[in-house]
Amino acid sequence: MSATPELSREAFIEDLIAHNFTTYFVATHSKSASSNPAFRFTPSPVSIAVPYSWSYSDARERLMSLSSLLTTEEAERRNINFVNPSLKDFMPAAALPTLRGGIQLLLPDEQAYSHRHTANAFRLVFEAPESGAYTNVEGNRLPMSMGDLILTPNWTWHDHHNEGDSHVIWYDGLDVLMAYWIGGVFYEEMVDVTGEKYQAIKHGANAVTDNFGPGMIHRRKMFPDHIPASNNPLIYYPYSKARAALTELADQGAGDPHEGIVVEYVNPVTCGPTFPTMGTSIRLIKEQSTVEAMHKTENIIFITMEGSVTFHLPDDQKFTTELHDVTAMPSWVPYSITNSSKTPAVLFSQTDRPLFETLGFYREQKT
Ligand SMILES: [Fe+2]
Repeated sequence: MSATPELSREAFIEDLIAHNFTTYFVATHSKSASSNPAFRFTPSPVSIAVPYSWSYSDARERLMSLSSLLTTEEAERRNINFVNPSLKDFMPAAALPTLRGGIQLLLPDEQAYSHRHTANAFRLVFEAPESGAYTNVEGNRLPMSMGDLILTPNWTWHDHHNEGDSHVIWYDGLDVLMAYWIGGVFYEEMVDVTGEKYQAIKHGANAVTDNFGPGMIHRRKMFPDHIPASNNPLIYYPYSKARAALTELADQGAGDPHEGIVVEYVNPVTCGPTFPTMGTSIRLIKEQSTVEAMHKTENIIFITMEGSVTFHLPDDQKFTTELHDVTAMPSWVPYSITNSSKTPAVLFSQTDRPLFETLGFYREQKT
């Protein structure tokens, strides 16, 4: 050891980092420890994201402005994405570390051409004409009505159409950030594969939903060989059924102080989550009630589908949401949800909890 061990130590570390090495001492050293949670074992999760809430009216206004600047022919998809302010410098379209969310618009007589990707995605319909708006998923024409959930799982061709007399706006939820981080993104445009920009329609929505009534499905009749057999075959969940289930449970007095009344959109073949990587659910919070705070290892996005709620976070931070506002909660951040109005509130949610569960990392803890 030299006469100036601190200088020697610093020179050693600088040399180490300059040559693309590091040592755990760098993370625990007083100079860098607080800014380097990715290289420390923390007693509990420290997310790289922050809690955040986006106003739907702000996003919608920008989406409408975009429609006058960009046609669907010019844009692969015309949308506005929700960006977590703490991720924007290195993940330009991430609401949370694994999850992307955005809203997309089709004006009457517009369509968005067919493509497919390994990332799983879903559409949650916010505004729609009486009829005529639909998404074609592998030949299945799935109507887009307010609150409907439409899945476009791993590698399924999908294109969007609006033959109605007013615009359609929906929320896109994707696990593409997770796919990006692990190097799993594949993408194709239909025109490059088949020469066609859009798929032919082979089935109506009842071909999807009716298959599960009798518990029978001819998977290969509905989905061709390029679709992974592990995909959720139930790609359409009408809002009316989800909402009716919540009402029925509320009438029965169901509910949990830390969850509210929740219905999950499950894969009917496995009873598992909507996608292997991403779960979706819908939750009712009764009037003048509070869902208590908990720590949970999941990144979750809430979308207010009915009513208004307030999320209360540590340090007196709070978000009050209105219809279709989008709120992101990183892993382990505790929050309570209060509905102080005189009518029930309904929240849709998109979570990466299935990832944590698969890995054995899922934990929860009461505050
Ligand atoms: Fe897509």
